[in-house]
Amino acid sequence: MSSRTNSTIRPLDPRATESYYRQIYDRFRDAIASGVLKPGDRIPSARALTQELGLSRGTIDTAYSLLAAEGYIEARGQAGTVVTPGLKPRAPVAVVPPRARGDTVAPSFRADSILPFQMGLPALDMFPRKIWARLGARHARSMQPADMANPPAFGLPGLRAQIATYLRVSRGIDCSSEQVVVTAGYRHALGLIARALLKEGDRVWLENPGYPPTRDLLGQWGVAGVPVPVDHEGIVVAEGLRLAPTARMAVVTPAHQSPLGVSLSLPRRLALLDWAADAGAWIVEDDYDGEYRYVSRPLPALKSLDGEGRVLYAGTFSKVLFPGIRLGYLVLPEAQVQRFAEVFHTFAGDTPWLTQAIAAAFVAEGHFARHIQKMRRCYAERREATIGGLKDVLGDRLRIDSPPGGMHLILRFEGRWSPEQLVARMREDGLYGEAMADWMVEGEGMPALLVSFTNIASRARAAELGTRLARLL
Ligand SMILES: Cc1ncc(COP(=O)(O)O)c(C=O)c1O
Repeated sequence: MSSRTNSTIRPLDPRATESYYRQIYDRFRDAIASGVLKPGDRIPSARALTQELGLSRGTIDTAYSLLAAEGYIEARGQAGTVVTPGLKPRAPVAVVPPRARGDTVAPSFRADSILPFQMGLPALDMFPRKIWARLGARHARSMQPADMANPPAFGLPGLRAQIATYLRVSRGIDCSSEQVVVTAGYRHALGLIARALLKEGDRVWLENPGYPPTRDLLGQWGVAGVPVPVDHEGIVVAEGLRLAPTARMAVVTPAHQSPLGVSLSLPRRLALLDWAADAGAWIVEDDYDGEYRYVSRPLPALKSLDGEGRVLYAGTFSKVLFPGIRLGYLVLPEAQVQRFAEVFHTFAGDTPWLTQAIAAAFVAEGHFARHIQKMRRCYAERREATIGGLKDVLGDRLRIDSPPGGMHLILRFEGRWSPEQLVARMREDGLYGEAMADWMVEGEGMPALLVSFTNIASRARAAELGTRLARLL
């Protein structure tokens, strides 16, 4: 290690059971906690440390990203990487103690880390960055004075038109660009819907288990979530009708129920639409990854059957492009466009012009369709590779539910095990996982671990991760 690191950080131990990245992480954390490294001190660049230690760049990057995610270090561009200024040294927590349910700190569901098995992330290595950069440069160069004013509240007309065309072709939704509104992603869209259509105390059907941010966001609005069970055909509409026939809204994930991955059957789709029409209720269709189906063509959206104008269709670019883009859209029933105008003029229109312009060109020039096709093939392969690699190591101890679509797997292990404890140990070991219990609106749910396969590029890599999982179990 360099003189700076050498004098401050204990050498690595090749015989230790901990992986190298973990040892590096521990060494830096200990040195910071004990005051050997002080706030503002510069630490070696990842490149320099890679060369010095003769380890792979990925190992160093993993250690540094964990340190950065936990606020110990900060990258300062040209000025290098430093111990976070103002950081108060404190004793490191040795291990995350196993937590009983109840004490568990639920994951944020907006994780900004990039760990193996990280949920919610598309395959980051596959994104056509060069094309994106080229489109970005072109739009930045050709920016006109009119582009420098506030973007329109409903989004750039060009992007709205591209989205409407894409939805018509790919998701079977017959809508005009006037019905399409650009948002900063699904959660933003749901907040706008709540402002426009809900009031405190209203009851809303929520899938149980279901995407936690939906539950949390509506909870913040004082809306009462009614947990409705999900079975192999999706949300059990009859149960919703029994529990809360006069609810104001249902939020559903018909393409691939989140997280169980089942598709909402046609009889259930029709029953849900009938209920909404009869009760004057709204349906929010969260179509977050409808494009990614591996056994057949993607299913048409629920919105494509919405003759009565009760469905608000929320799409997002978080999965098909990347979550950092913060871009999504909402398709409003034609008769509701006016009703939403006031809310949008006050609370929308915040997606930067440049982001929208690049996205519009990306779709218009065919890159979007090509990217989705490429990713569908890639995910089918990575899903197989991940299942194969995990099975190679864990064999019959492991049961894997691999739904027909989506971007994650549901793992269950034989014998006694606690998903929450395993998740805590995985985080400690630099792996990501989520416990099914954290996705429950009510009840415990089945003991299961959710992991994503999107960034696991080979069977060998999956087997390597499987070995680490086996050790943690
Ligand atoms: C069920 C579900 N809905 C929506 C989203 C996307 O949310 P956003 O557009 O706010 O990033 C995700 C992303 O992980 C998701 O899993």
